[in-house]
Amino acid sequence: MRPRLFTRRSILECLAAAPVAATAGCAASPAVDPAAAWRAPGAGERDPRRFALAHAILAPNPHNRQPWLVDLVGKDEIAFYPDTARLLPATDPPNRQITVGCGAFLELMDIAARQIGIRPEISLWPQGEPQPNLDARRVAHVRFAADPAVRRDPLFAQIPLRHTNRVPFDLKAPPTASDLGEIVGAATGAPITAGIVTDAAERAELIKLGWQGWTIEGHTPRTHMESVRLLRIGAKEIAEHRDGVSLGGSMFEALKATGMLTPKVMADPDSFGAKSSDSMAHKALDATPAFLWLRGADNSRATQIAAGRAYARAHLTATKLGLCFQPWSMTLQEYPEMAALYAATQARLGASPAAPLQMLVRVGRAKFAGPAPRRGLAEHIRT
Ligand SMILES: Cc1cc2nc3c(=O)[nH]c(=O)nc-3n(C[C@H](O)[C@H](O)[C@H](O)COP(=O)(O)O)c2cc1C
Repeated sequence: MRPRLFTRRSILECLAAAPVAATAGCAASPAVDPAAAWRAPGAGERDPRRFALAHAILAPNPHNRQPWLVDLVGKDEIAFYPDTARLLPATDPPNRQITVGCGAFLELMDIAARQIGIRPEISLWPQGEPQPNLDARRVAHVRFAADPAVRRDPLFAQIPLRHTNRVPFDLKAPPTASDLGEIVGAATGAPITAGIVTDAAERAELIKLGWQGWTIEGHTPRTHMESVRLLRIGAKEIAEHRDGVSLGGSMFEALKATGMLTPKVMADPDSFGAKSSDSMAHKALDATPAFLWLRGADNSRATQIAAGRAYARAHLTATKLGLCFQPWSMTLQEYPEMAALYAATQARLGASPAAPLQMLVRVGRAKFAGPAPRRGLAEHIRT
């Protein structure tokens, strides 16, 4: 029997507020504060590389895996590697999304370095592009060249303020055409093209596809379980892992303690917990006044990195404008069960498998959602 304490409505509201609740829950942990990396990143760092990297680890990245490893080389260089122990083989078989997240990391590193008079010289894939999967080869080798004339980037101030927001957006106060134009401008530049969908009929089609994609992912055991294994329920687990999908706050603690919300429960896509999560996701998707899409000229690793850089700039710009982003990636994912929806989404937005969409993103206004955990700089620096 379910404890009376939890009404269906209170559980749904709690799931809806997950990003905010996660922060509150995290703060309760005495040992490690999973949100610490967001406060004054790089403060006290004397090495410009460490200052820039303290900002880079705040980059958006799929499932918050934070798959970034760095060697500090000599006095002013870094070697940047993908953390191949942190890939998403079920939902991201070609590691495309992980690579996009590496691009976002490089963009934030670049912006932060410029803030302190450094011009990073970035050589991408110096050992060649890994295909069909990422491997131990470097994503980039970077030299931090001092250059007093380097131009600071006004988006720097937005780095610790940018957060993914998964709640319903305000349909009564949609983003203005001018704001959306600025976001598209921030994301556009060879090899990336960006566009916006606001037309009601077009949006309805994307919402329909997006929902079908969510449903397929949730009912394909290996893709569903990849997310379930990354659920961090309650302050203790969140502080222990500082990655993945955080469900924190007093309500989630109680649901966990009573056995109503556990990985085992969530593993069943027809369980009450999973259905509650579906219902909130659907509500959020329905409340999408605009979609942003990013398309590459091809699907090379270099273009995937460029997409991550463009996405980071677009999200920082949206943050400056008081707008929120949530990527909705399900139908862009490359596994057999998703193939028909993948093709339909590409076709609808004028893309193709050879030059595919790299990001599809909900855009709108909503209340602030708290920061997702970060593992901290020390976890990313090997030497
Ligand atoms: C390539 C890529 C795909 C993503 N796909 C999704 C998605 O489908 N749904 C979602 O809610 N967030 C998605 N995100 C956002 C991440 O989950 C988010 O960046 C991560 O949890 C860290 O949180 P933060 O952006 O607030 O720092 C994606 C991010 C990237 C870079």
